[in-house]
Amino acid sequence: MLGIIGGTGLTQLRCLQISRREIARTPYGEASHPLIFGNLAGVEVVFLARHGAGHTIPPHAVNYRANMWALHAAGARSVLAIATVGGIDGQLNAGDVVLPNQLIDYTHGRNNTYHDGIELPVKHIDFTEPYSSQLRQACKLAAANIKQPLVETGVYACVQGPRLETAAEINKLERDGATIVGMTGMPEAVLARELDMHYAALCPVVNHAAGRGDSSKGINFAEISANLARTMQSVCGLIEEIARVNAQT
Ligand code: HPA
Repeated sequence: MLGIIGGTGLTQLRCLQISRREIARTPYGEASHPLIFGNLAGVEVVFLARHGAGHTIPPHAVNYRANMWALHAAGARSVLAIATVGGIDGQLNAGDVVLPNQLIDYTHGRNNTYHDGIELPVKHIDFTEPYSSQLRQACKLAAANIKQPLVETGVYACVQGPRLETAAEINKLERDGATIVGMTGMPEAVLARELDMHYAALCPVVNHAAGRGDSSKGINFAEISANLARTMQSVCGLIEEIARVNAQT
């Protein structure tokens, strides 16, 4: 089954025909929100709102271990995460959707493993390619099927937040090789890998990163909200097609 994690601007999937809701208790606590099971374009999926119902949980306080555990326990073997980002690469503009193929983790203090020697024994996993090539392929195919533009590669810098970055920090991230910046991609991706789930992220760009383009003098939050609403319309259609394509792979 496909799990879908909705981020900022996507606390519910309008096209989902809901069959049931289930409060998810795990050895790591409760997930951010009850799991919502339903049918999307004829495919059974399970949806989880990462930041809770009213977007009340900030990125650094999300219980990522409970969320990923809950999706896995519900039967998800692939997880498509929606995570809004700021664009670092000068080619990127609000409204673009990026499918990252790499990430750099700048977060700290987050519970980032199940194998902490407490619940599960210590174990090191391979993370050379942090995203599932199979699920990324389904995303690319789906975008092509519905002729939706998709930026097919990107390096996602995961920052701690909840504040946005300084202009100098964005320059550093760019020197590191990052093309987009967000706050929730880690430890979600590594926890999915530890649970052997396919994981890919769809990253709608909602602003130029700090000090860049429209954000050269500061981030305009009203514009982010407007961009978010507009972009999520098209992202919903893409998610439906990804569910359809993924069910056939
Ligand atoms: N920085 C970090 N996270 C974000 C941004 C940003 O500019 N935009 C959306 N999420």
